[in-house]
Amino acid sequence: MPQALRPHHVRPLLSAERIRARVAELAAEIDRDYRDSDALVAIGVLKGAVLFYSDLVQRLSVPVIVDFFQTSSYGAGTVAGEIRIKRDIDTSIRGRDVLLVEDIVDTGWTVRTILELFRFRGARSVKLCALLDKHEAREADVPIDYCGFKIGNDFVVGYGLDYGEHHRHLPYVGVVEFEDVAEGDR
Ligand code: IMP
Repeated sequence: MPQALRPHHVRPLLSAERIRARVAELAAEIDRDYRDSDALVAIGVLKGAVLFYSDLVQRLSVPVIVDFFQTSSYGAGTVAGEIRIKRDIDTSIRGRDVLLVEDIVDTGWTVRTILELFRFRGARSVKLCALLDKHEAREADVPIDYCGFKIGNDFVVGYGLDYGEHHRHLPYVGVVEFEDVAEGDR
């Protein structure tokens, strides 16, 4: 059930056109890097990466197996070692090339935990593709092999990202601005 949300509006940040163009560039890079691989498994992180993931994999020409992984944190924010698996992948990744596709890297704990798990399971290689990099918020060191856009420390929604399960369907990314913030606090 969607939670009650504070009154807010969404200020557009990245247009659908900009996203489309960047996704095409990322897909071209990935195609180039994996042209000799016959064992690429692209794993999307639910639910936030679902729009990005589907646009990205449609643009790949290399053979690719699609799969999904879902996590949740225990509390309000993400903390080291506190990532819970809600849905695991179906595919055996031993000896395969894994490309993890995520919506946003914030503290970095979520992707760091998933990447370590996939390495432990014997993947031949493990790389990360993230649409958004909130680099100022980083706590866990994770290299992003394919990064869509670096953004500031704002809370963003759209193109898969949500605020209390709202706004995931928007074709663009926008910043959540709360309407009850006093003028002097802006
Ligand atoms: P991390 O473990 O702190 O890097 O958290 C990553 C997860 O937090 C993402 O997969 C998102 O689900 C969520 N998240 C972080 N920042 C935002 C945001 O600005 N908008 C929506 N979700 C976010």
